Amino acid sequence: MTGRHDVVRGAVSRELWPDTAAVEDGVLSIGGVRATALAAEHGTPLVVYCRETIVAQARAFRAIDPEALVVFGAKAFPNVAILRLLHGEGLGADVSTLGELEFALRAGLRGEELLFHGNNKSNEELEAAAAAGALVVLDSGEEVGRAARAGVRRVLVRLTPGIKARTHQSIQTAHDDSKFGVDLDGALGVVRDALDALEPVGLHVHIGSQLARVDESLLAVDRLAAFCRRCRDELRWTPRLLDIGGGPGIRHSPDEQVPPPHEFARALVERLRAEWPEPARVALEPGRSLVGRAGVTLYRIGATKQSGGVEYAAIDGGMSDNPRPQLYGARYAARLANRDGPAEGEFRIAGKHCESGDVLLDSVALPRPRRGDLLAVPATGAYTLAMASNYNGVPRPAALLVAGGEATLIRRRETVDDLLALEA
Ligand code: LLP
Repeated sequence: MTGRHDVVRGAVSRELWPDTAAVEDGVLSIGGVRATALAAEHGTPLVVYCRETIVAQARAFRAIDPEALVVFGAKAFPNVAILRLLHGEGLGADVSTLGELEFALRAGLRGEELLFHGNNKSNEELEAAAAAGALVVLDSGEEVGRAARAGVRRVLVRLTPGIKARTHQSIQTAHDDSKFGVDLDGALGVVRDALDALEPVGLHVHIGSQLARVDESLLAVDRLAAFCRRCRDELRWTPRLLDIGGGPGIRHSPDEQVPPPHEFARALVERLRAEWPEPARVALEPGRSLVGRAGVTLYRIGATKQSGGVEYAAIDGGMSDNPRPQLYGARYAARLANRDGPAEGEFRIAGKHCESGDVLLDSVALPRPRRGDLLAVPATGAYTLAMASNYNGVPRPAALLVAGGEATLIRRRETVDDLLALEA
């Protein structure tokens, strides 16, 4: 599956790999550091983030509209160093739990550069959001009173525009029976209640994640603009902050086609300006598109075998560090990171966990993998470590940030002692 798209002039394709990825003497390097050296020092599985790629993505989003509020969808990879790096580029954070809020606070974010989301916010979470001065995104009418009592003032109201985005159904968020937000029939009432008890400043829509096409998002923007007109005409309230969410997809494998994420977002911002010409600040909440392609996971190959005509190579991780193949049928690319060469077959990359579904890549063309080889899987910076588990008592991987020939540990590897520390 790596195929012809993967190898470009002896280097690697920028559409799947980080901006600084290169291959020299057959060895993959990222940020000027060889994958072999990183794996030898830090062990595997290891998630390597390219600083340059993250910064470039952040700047591309900021350039869409310098006045816009761009917040990192922290759920893609809640990490203090990454939040700090993005904050330095002028980005805030979208957080949706107490835990994510604490990560953002630790990174130095404060006030309205923090957006607090969630379809089931606890009173404790609302109080913490209020104390941090975060903008709270109301998800239901029920939250109005609790938010007011928790000391929250400024809020957005999340709309559910009744759009079924073409993406995996688990990550659609704006269809008619979605658990998120308030449908357009009920939303006017929620805004009215919020005007009595709080200080609503704007509206929010987010129709889903890993979106490959912009048309449904444009429709969401049209419905948002129509709802703005209703608020102005029927409630005499003009929203001043319009948050059009995250969602632009990235390429995880050569056969996945998506527009460049910042172009996707730019089209939405332009549509919003055309449909709602009143002065309003735009907010964007990219998650995956900021950190996804920046991250490469390195695994060590262990057992290899043939079974029923399938050539297996097993890695020292799997569904505990990347559950996306099981959860969303996600397909990835891969290459050997320690040596190069012509493909010698199609190999199935199995994880080390105790279930047959633990397959990271169904079929990938590689030089015949041998025990001890390093396998690099690109576009694994978002929703991988963020969703990692300890299944089979496996500690979660470490993460590094690499740039200019140097690597910085941004999350240490978990140990079995860490796991045992939780036991009574
Ligand atoms: N804003 C809101 C309100 C969201 O719910 C999300 C993601 C984002 C922004 C960021 O979306 P992004 O730009 O990353 O698509 N675990 C799934 C993805 C879940 C997305 C959850 N919400 C996956 O691995 O594909």
